[in-house]
Amino acid sequence: MHHQIIMKGVIYFLPVLWVSVNCARILGIFRVPFLSHQVVYQPIWKELSLKGHQITIVTTHPLNEPELTNLTEIDVSEAVSAALKTTSIPEIMSKDVPLHSKIHKLFQTHYKIAEAVLSHPRFIEIYNTTNVSYDLVLAEGTTSPILYAVAAKFKVPLVGINSFGAWTGLLSAMGTPHSTSLYSETWSTFRHPMTFSERLRNTLHYIWTRYYLNFEALPKCDQIARKYLGNDLPYIQDIQKNMSLLLQMTNPILYEPRPNVPTVISMEQMHIKPVKPLPKDIKQFLDKAKTGAVYFSLGSNVKSVDIPKKLRKMLIEAFAELPYKILWKFEDDYLPGRPKNVFIRKWMPQQDVLAHPNVRVFVTQCGLQSVEEAISRRVPMVGIPFIADQSRNVIRLSEEGAAIALDHRTVTKEEFKNAIIEVINNPKYRKNVRRLAEIWVDHPLPSLNRTIWWIEYVIRHKGTRHLRSPTVDVSWFKYLLIDVILVLLFCISLILFVLYKTLRFILTRIDIEKKLKQI
Ligand SMILES: *[C@@H]1O[C@H](CO)[C@@H](O)[C@H](O)[C@H]1NC(C)=O
Ligand SMILES: *[C@@H]1O[C@H](CO)[C@@H](O)[C@H](O)[C@H]1NC(C)=O
Ligand SMILES: *[C@@H]1O[C@H](CO)[C@@H](O)[C@H](O)[C@H]1NC(C)=O
Ligand SMILES: *[C@@H]1O[C@H](CO)[C@@H](O)[C@H](O)[C@H]1NC(C)=O
Repeated sequence: MHHQIIMKGVIYFLPVLWVSVNCARILGIFRVPFLSHQVVYQPIWKELSLKGHQITIVTTHPLNEPELTNLTEIDVSEAVSAALKTTSIPEIMSKDVPLHSKIHKLFQTHYKIAEAVLSHPRFIEIYNTTNVSYDLVLAEGTTSPILYAVAAKFKVPLVGINSFGAWTGLLSAMGTPHSTSLYSETWSTFRHPMTFSERLRNTLHYIWTRYYLNFEALPKCDQIARKYLGNDLPYIQDIQKNMSLLLQMTNPILYEPRPNVPTVISMEQMHIKPVKPLPKDIKQFLDKAKTGAVYFSLGSNVKSVDIPKKLRKMLIEAFAELPYKILWKFEDDYLPGRPKNVFIRKWMPQQDVLAHPNVRVFVTQCGLQSVEEAISRRVPMVGIPFIADQSRNVIRLSEEGAAIALDHRTVTKEEFKNAIIEVINNPKYRKNVRRLAEIWVDHPLPSLNRTIWWIEYVIRHKGTRHLRSPTVDVSWFKYLLIDVILVLLFCISLILFVLYKTLRFILTRIDIEKKLKQI
């Protein structure tokens, strides 16, 4: 009898000990249907599986590498794109859309994505069975916390991963102090030092965000999470605040340094790969570019085929007049009026193109991943921002002298040509890009190794409760010391009042005595 209990204990505990050290079961949910997000996450799940963890990933961009035997990928791209049939994220994230409207529309989009993912039959199989358990849930960050609730359903630690600098709502949930005098939203172009009007607008926006989150977005997120995962869940904001770790893609160049809580960790250049040989035709084209080549791409979210006609016409004319070879990522087989010196291709091995010594300038929308690729290959940029954080990135790069910023709505052919000629011929730009690259890679350990270490740290300690910042649990009026300030103001007013009364009393006495003397 005793023996049996001991044996049961041994059988039960041995795998648990082994699991926590060597091999954990990890569920990852990466839902935003953009390659520029997913390329940041892919190396993480690949590396975790190679380290012997059993990984199940819900994603829109599976790796489909059969040799990764510890990895199961559930492709939800069809369900997500069906849900977003009538939504254009580039339109929502366009820099012409006001910030509050952008955030509202982003949440609307994320409700649709979350519902598409949660109603995917293969994912239901995972979260609606009692016989599978996990040791950790990894979930994409961004704005909406709905899918974090999967971690709460399994009652396991949650690690959030963001493919850019986390937005205010997420940072506040982690307890990172957010001073509106210094920091603005990821999608805003306000930067320190802000003018009075910018600080005012930034503060009003922040107050609006907190209001919108608490009274509109979070209740809706909670409702969607409960609809699929059951009513037996903590409130969604408590789930979000319980996040063990937030991994975000930031870097010391595009993001202002800020005081983060210990559970907010930066990753960078996650998707940068060793240089591979170029396809033959691209290599031949670039080899022949003795006077230099221009690489032009607007990334994977803004398509060159979709830009305004006027802008496309200007680009074609400018390229025709430049004495360089132009490599253009153009998402169609045919470019009407293509000049002789322009080579088009629907997809380019961008990192390898940028590594070619004849590529002297990268004309880019300045998305975070493209900027990281350009800097890692030491290529200066001409930036034409369209959406999201791109405007902000261009401003930073031009402040550092590593890029020239242009506005796609107003840029003329002469300005465009001059920017390219200037970046190619003025050695300042290349020098600055090199300087940034050297700062960027100077770390005790490569970014991927640090990221994996932190994820395994969370698994080893079953969460990071011991690192939870007190800011997470304190109410805003306590955090801002509103109560203390009110008491101090009261005391000061009281003292002033007493002083005033005493002075008046003394003065009137003096007055009376004077009058008495006169009599
Ligand atoms: C799969 O995981 C096991 C340990 O669980 C490990 O020994 C093996 O190398 C992993 N295989 C691959 C291809 O990642
Ligand atoms: C917080 O996370 C722990 C695991 O780290 C889990 O056991 C607990 O249920 C979670 N609580 C909430 C409110 O989500
Ligand atoms: C989960 O399973 C329960 C019972 O097995 C079922 O009633 C419920 O509809 C399922 N949830 C989803 C989202 O399919
Ligand atoms: C980083 O991780 C890789 C893959 O696990 C490993 O081969 C390499 O040795 C690690 N680098 C350092 C400096 O620990």
